[in-house]
Amino acid sequence: MSTTGPEGSTALITGASYGIGADIARALAARGHHLVLVARSAEPLDRLAAALEAEFGISARPLAADLSTEAGMDAAAARAGDADILVNNAGAGLGLSFERTAWEEERRMLALNVVAPSRLVHAALPGMLRRGRGRILNVSSVAATAPVWQGTTYGASKAYALALTESLAHTRRIRTSPVALTALVLGHTVSEFHERAGIAPSPPSLTLASPYVAERAVRAILRRRPPVVCVPSVRYKLLAGLLRHLPRRVVALPLLADDFTVTSYEAPRPPYGAGEPRTGGRESAGSDGQDGVLPAEAHGQRERQP
Ligand SMILES: NC(=O)c1ccc[n+]([C@@H]2O[C@H](COP(=O)([O-])OP(=O)(O)OC[C@H]3O[C@@H](n4cnc5c(N)ncnc54)[C@H](OP(=O)(O)O)[C@@H]3O)[C@@H](O)[C@H]2O)c1
Repeated sequence: MSTTGPEGSTALITGASYGIGADIARALAARGHHLVLVARSAEPLDRLAAALEAEFGISARPLAADLSTEAGMDAAAARAGDADILVNNAGAGLGLSFERTAWEEERRMLALNVVAPSRLVHAALPGMLRRGRGRILNVSSVAATAPVWQGTTYGASKAYALALTESLAHTRRIRTSPVALTALVLGHTVSEFHERAGIAPSPPSLTLASPYVAERAVRAILRRRPPVVCVPSVRYKLLAGLLRHLPRRVVALPLLADDFTVTSYEAPRPPYGAGEPRTGGRESAGSDGQDGVLPAEAHGQRERQP
């Protein structure tokens, strides 16, 4: 990839059936990149692939795979070796405290959030270095920067994505190559994420629009020198910067930290992973708004639990 001229460049995006991954796919297709779209739900993937091919004249190949399984990881890894851009976006959270989850839920979440991205980076990196071009985007979270999402392994799993990215990106081997890794440190963004994790929707004043986030991320990785850490929106840049540098005892104050296992959205949740993947697709919600923050009316009706 010359980073701006995508001739023949292929991007593999996980979690592309809806949410932020679908918007990242759109942003890359709009710039002429061919796509491999990975998620469990075949129907939304097929629909998105067909729509992006028709709209942008690129080739988009759906790959239905469960990345919490060895077979799913194998299938995606087999395609990652040829990718010029790898976007490790698929991820999920758990709204129950660690001691209350079933181990199988934990195992699947850690496989999806930790093992699968590692596996795909491991599969993609040698080919990228050999070809002398490549970009890797690992989707992390503000929850990775400090223990603000307490009581569950989600924050730890996202801290891994950030640590893996930084640890590889700062090596001499990568720094002196045309390959770059970026961690996307995301704040609350409108998607299916919160509902599927069984947690309350985020405060409107802090919620970003998914197309905005996707556009920022794609612009960042296509720069000649991509940042190692990309935080979309000024207010999250400030927040993530503060969280990363404030002493832990300050960060853990109730004002900043949130024990989601106490404030959990109490409606019945689909059991993570055991739930069938979606069959119906949905356009990503929201308009960009100022600084990517959604206008309040774009939010769902549910309020955060006290
Ligand atoms: N939304 C937020 O506020 C927020 C904040 C910080 C970080 N993030 C991170 O952003 C990333 C994208 O999340 P999102 O907000 O777009 O969530 P989302 O709307 O729930 O989308 C998740 C995507 O991952 C796919 N996926 C889930 N389980 C999978 C599995 N086992 N195998 C393969 N694909 C799987 C889903 O498709 P299928 O169900 O069809 O498989 C879907 O395409 C995640 O890594 C999340 O941790 C989100």
